[in-house]
Amino acid sequence: MKQLRFGLFENAQANDSGTATWRHPDNRRDQFDTLAYWRDIARMSEEADFDFVFLADAWGWADVNGQRPEICSVEGLDLPRLDPTIVGAAMVAETDRLGVVMTGSILLEQPYAFARRMASLDQLSGGRIGWNVVTTGTAETAVQAFGVPMVPHDERYRMADDFMQVVYKLWEGAWEPGALERDKQGRFADPTKVHRIAHDGPYFRSHGYGNTAYTPQGTPVLFQAGASPAGRAFGGRHGECMFVGSGSAEQLGEHSRAIRAEAAASGRSADDVKVMSAFACVVGRTIEDARRKYERVLDSQDPGVAVASYAWFTGLDLSSYAPETPMTELHTELSQTQVARFAGQTVGDVLKDWHAHGVGARPVIGTPEDVADVICDLADRADLDGFLLSPVIQPGSTLDFIEHVLPILRERGVASPGGDEGTLRERLMGKGSPTLGDRHPAAAARPAVSAA
Ligand SMILES: Cc1cc2nc3c(=O)[nH]c(=O)nc-3n(C[C@H](O)[C@H](O)[C@H](O)COP(=O)(O)O)c2cc1C
Repeated sequence: MKQLRFGLFENAQANDSGTATWRHPDNRRDQFDTLAYWRDIARMSEEADFDFVFLADAWGWADVNGQRPEICSVEGLDLPRLDPTIVGAAMVAETDRLGVVMTGSILLEQPYAFARRMASLDQLSGGRIGWNVVTTGTAETAVQAFGVPMVPHDERYRMADDFMQVVYKLWEGAWEPGALERDKQGRFADPTKVHRIAHDGPYFRSHGYGNTAYTPQGTPVLFQAGASPAGRAFGGRHGECMFVGSGSAEQLGEHSRAIRAEAAASGRSADDVKVMSAFACVVGRTIEDARRKYERVLDSQDPGVAVASYAWFTGLDLSSYAPETPMTELHTELSQTQVARFAGQTVGDVLKDWHAHGVGARPVIGTPEDVADVICDLADRADLDGFLLSPVIQPGSTLDFIEHVLPILRERGVASPGGDEGTLRERLMGKGSPTLGDRHPAAAARPAVSAA
């Protein structure tokens, strides 16, 4: 079996994934707005040899019929939050090898400014940065806040294609590798290696020179998690590392095959895309012990959170439907995945499921061996390249995974023994590839190599 890669899911908020477990005594996420919290997470992740910490992000807030329900403030559900690129910078400063992957929205960011922010981080970190490209499922309230028009679901992916063309031109085409000479007797930069970019797309225009020189990775490692047909096609064109939600081996296998087929259809190799599944676990000495632990997590949550949180992701107020309503009767322009994945179930089923784990992975409950077995089995049967550990409580669940599960995976040879070095792309894709390969569409933005 191949060696799996591991990332740690984080979010610069008191809660994540549409749940609210911040009241649990072992959860430190209520301290998400302190530097001490992020320093500890960064150090813990580097010492454990996670390949990266992933910082999720959302814009907007939970909205039920035009109002942000009071429970959102009471439980710290959707707000407040910090900017993931600032938190990411703090983690980069605290570490030497850890990758940091940040979520950025093509709907709400401006490509020219965003390209500079990501390139600055890639430069300062020595090539340890990834970007999770999102079209923003929670767009309805976010566009109000930004004062921009709502863009329908599939069109947001066309907008994303256009956004990518601008940032590729800036990251890959504006400055050639080796343009900076820093020669005090000669020149700082070679003017023949600095180029004007020009982009006139359907959504974005940009003309002129890029702010940042070529960084260690050129383009940060591109993460993506779209699950709708438009989302998968976009991921197949651009994504290097695709997140899939949790599910059975059959569901994950189908999703992983579809993503690799999309990559191949775009002229890339099926193996150019790494597929990582969201994964959560509650580990105990015995299965009963693990179950009791999970009960305590569920008891720490107010059941009212589920209605507000489902509405935030989908715009749908489930409390206004009879519990026996089939989910197939509902439609959204927000996250379609969060409606489609409940086909065959009722509104009542969804509220129960959402209370347990929201949009996040359904936790595997068991002993360390049980959890390691599930990881190996899923990876094998669904052809996965790695897992994104989503802690049920933080850092409690992560420490349990590090102390009890990771050593078993290492012993079985399916997790790296540790000490991996290099850029984030090299850690994930293999040595010798700090920048994107020629098959990736970003390569088309590179200038013809200047004469020496
Ligand atoms: C592991 C994982 C992490 C995700 N993180 C984010 C995130 O931080 N922000 C966000 O807006 N969407 C996030 N998503 C959601 C997807 O990016 C995507 O928006 C969602 O699947 C809806 O798109 P779709 O309609 O194409 O499926 C995540 C999904 C997964 C599986």
